[in-house]
Amino acid sequence: MSLNQYKRIVVLTGAGVSAESGINTFRDKNGLWEKYRLEDVATLAGYKKDPTLVHDFYNKRRSDFCSEDIEPNAAHYALAELEKEFNGEFLLVTQNIDDLHEQAGSKNVIHMHGELLKARCPNTNQVITWMNDMDINDLCHCCQYPSNLRPHIVWFGEMPLGLDIIYHHLSQADLFIAIGTSGTVYPAAGFVEEAKSVGAYSIEVNLEGSEIQSHFDKIQLGKATEIVPRLVSALLPTKSLA
Ligand code: APR
Repeated sequence: MSLNQYKRIVVLTGAGVSAESGINTFRDKNGLWEKYRLEDVATLAGYKKDPTLVHDFYNKRRSDFCSEDIEPNAAHYALAELEKEFNGEFLLVTQNIDDLHEQAGSKNVIHMHGELLKARCPNTNQVITWMNDMDINDLCHCCQYPSNLRPHIVWFGEMPLGLDIIYHHLSQADLFIAIGTSGTVYPAAGFVEEAKSVGAYSIEVNLEGSEIQSHFDKIQLGKATEIVPRLVSALLPTKSLA
């Protein structure tokens, strides 16, 4: 498999790509959804009912992300290298709200489920950088209606971000790679079928077979930090990242 045969690559990542950096996944054993009810902390209704609970949930995660122990891993770096060396179109779509892809050097990244280190004005949708704790007293003054800032997170029931661009790239992709995602949350779980419908070759990298594994042409089971550098090296034969 050489990079020369592909012109348009779309990579989708999920929590599994950041797991070895020390960030909890959602649905593995000890995953976040074993400890919290997603209805309470990841829906607009939950936020309206108890904003302090929701802020506390994201404050804890934000301070974890900002700790010095959390760093990009070999999978993040390999994907940044792939983007740098690839001459065609490359889009990295992540469901993750951490910024480890950017820290590793990735440039063309869409955070379809938002970003934890940003806050959003609910009136204007203006997005600002936010590194600290957030609470119900944090108001946005970007327009004449100061209102409560919320985490820049796409909650269940809300529209993911960047879908127009994502579907545009999927409609032209010739290689689609999904890494570290359980394939349980749509629309991301449907991207492989979208790419396959235009003839893209598809690869899944995951610790275990995902819910949607049957849609992929090739499945590589194992840790992202081991498989992704190997995969990128195969795509970039002159480099050895593995
Ligand atoms: N390497 C590769 N894959 C891994 C690793 C690893 N080191 N560790 C875990 N995985 C795999 C798991 O086997 C699992 O299939 O990563 C997947 C993580 O799945 P989820 O926890 O469901 O995460 P994700 O698919 O990103 O979730 C999608 O659900 O709750 C929402 O908004 C949240 O963006 C998230 C969305």
